Amino acid sequence: MFNTISMIGLGYIGLPTATLFASRKKKVIGVDINQHAVDTINRGKIHIVEPDLDMLVQAAVTSGYLRATTMPEPADAFLIAVPTPFTDGYKPDLSYIQAAAEAIAPVLRKDNLVILESTSPVGTTEKLAEWLAKSRPDLTFPQQAGEAADVQIAYCPERVLPGRVVHELVENDRIIGGMTRAANFMAAALYKIFVRGDLLATNARTAEMSKLTENSFRDVNIAFANELSMICVSAHRSASIHKFFM
Ligand SMILES: NC(=O)c1ccc[n+]([C@@H]2O[C@H](COP(=O)([O-])OP(=O)(O)OC[C@H]3O[C@@H](n4cnc5c(N)ncnc54)[C@H](O)[C@@H]3O)[C@@H](O)[C@H]2O)c1
Repeated sequence: MFNTISMIGLGYIGLPTATLFASRKKKVIGVDINQHAVDTINRGKIHIVEPDLDMLVQAAVTSGYLRATTMPEPADAFLIAVPTPFTDGYKPDLSYIQAAAEAIAPVLRKDNLVILESTSPVGTTEKLAEWLAKSRPDLTFPQQAGEAADVQIAYCPERVLPGRVVHELVENDRIIGGMTRAANFMAAALYKIFVRGDLLATNARTAEMSKLTENSFRDVNIAFANELSMICVSAHRSASIHKFFM
């Protein structure tokens, strides 16, 4: 089903993911707007810091399974892992996803699968589907044709720990949030190429919410640990002062 896979965005998430597909002997076209990143990867080197990734990228490039470019090319599946930073007022900036959608739209063809991996607010996958449909009125998308759509779309978030990304990409369970059952089926088949964890199928909005829930849960726990550490430091200081005057 997937002979050629395209990864849009070759950063901390996209490059390890692209490399794992290539290590399973899939032809991978990595796309990034950063010319320096593209040139570095095509030399078999890496522009980011992640243990074990350099050897994998070198092997993937020298074996001919991974190639990087700045211009999208036709493929069977497209995975998008571009930044989703906050703008002023903690509003999520979806312009990178929109730019990625507009860049891949001209090369989309019938039976393609598009997966959004970027951490995104609920409803972003539907927005992505609208942006693609606007650019390609000659193709049908899930919001128009459901299971019979020419191009299927899913949201499959990343949940890796920096420093252990390669291991976690392979071993972690993964949420598969298809806009349709057909998208779930295709996305599960795609990730099974290298994922050993369970693939848990749901819908796009639930998958988006699950990723935001996990990040918020971690944020609250880190904030709680920081508060406790400050309380403990000040309790320790006052205990020492008390001892000094005894
Ligand atoms: N890094 C993590 O640990 C982590 C974990 C889970 C989820 N995420 C999410 O994954 C997404 C990507 O994060 P990252 O850490 O890989 O970011 P990153 O900044 O390391 O990489 C993003 C890459 O996308 C490229 N890019 C930007 N616009 C592009 C476009 N239109 N076309 C092609 N390439 C484009 C950039 O040049 C960059 O190389 C974000 O939404 C992030 O929140 C990251």
